[in-house]
Amino acid sequence: MLIGLAIAEADRLSYSRERIRFGERNSGNRGFVQPGDVDLNPLALCCEAPSNDRITFAAASQLASAHGADPRRRSESMESYMAAHSDSFHVLQGPLELPCGAILKNRLAKAPMSDSLANGAGDPTEAQIRLYERWAVGGVAVSFIGEVQGDPRFPERPGNLVLGARTDQKMIGSLVSRATIAGAHLWPQLGHAGALSHLPISQPKGPSALDIEGLQCAGMSIDDIRELPAMYARTALLAKTAGFGGVLIHAGHGFLLSQFLSPLFNRRNDGYGGSI
Ligand SMILES: Cc1cc2nc3c(=O)[nH]c(=O)nc-3n(C[C@H](O)[C@H](O)[C@H](O)COP(=O)(O)O)c2cc1C
Repeated sequence: MLIGLAIAEADRLSYSRERIRFGERNSGNRGFVQPGDVDLNPLALCCEAPSNDRITFAAASQLASAHGADPRRRSESMESYMAAHSDSFHVLQGPLELPCGAILKNRLAKAPMSDSLANGAGDPTEAQIRLYERWAVGGVAVSFIGEVQGDPRFPERPGNLVLGARTDQKMIGSLVSRATIAGAHLWPQLGHAGALSHLPISQPKGPSALDIEGLQCAGMSIDDIRELPAMYARTALLAKTAGFGGVLIHAGHGFLLSQFLSPLFNRRNDGYGGSI
């Protein structure tokens, strides 16, 4: 039922606007967000109503504010919705043990979103720490930090966190301790942008050398490829030592690991290419 969480920021708001059709569904017995119903929770809960419509709660709250609602009013209809579906909410509140043994206190996860809030040298900033602290205070079981780099040469964009020998341990320690209050987990998503590494600050390198309109990159050598598992393992170990609860490996969205699975990026004819 609960499908995810999102930060109700301006671009997310416009993204969510099409989905929630605010105002069209605010008076029926299924709609639980009404003009005037504003929750101060910093989290935007993405819920799925019985009709399978999604409602981005905090985004709707912000829209309600924009429509002149009083932001101090608590949503009564949210509470009655929860009461009417208490079995489902009971499940959402229950703990979840992952196959790796980590125990999450409930079913709420903040999806990995590259936040560009590191300081440009790969270390956390106070703003970034505050953001993850607020997710924890809001009650998530786990926050994933999008695109944390183990190899600073291939960032997805400026402002990615970097876990490595030069990491500022004091700032990372502060991030972990403040983002794990109330029993929340904090997990970095280990990234490597490969051919799509952010060009102005890197020299992109993917499975194969490419020179097409809008995309030029070098190709990885066999040694480059063989070094990858050790890089991921080293970064995961650093994460563990720093107190993160686990790591997530980013293998989607067109970045390095998914480039290996794509014939558009992977034109190799050695053991790392060919048909899957
Ligand atoms: C601003 C932004 C940054 C994102 N960055 C990442 C990322 O670093 N890693 C990732 O796996 N997904 C990233 N995503 C994708 C989200 O984690 C999520 O999978 C996606 O928004 C789909 O979820 P939704 O259907 O609930 O919106 C990002 C999404 C947004 C909007």
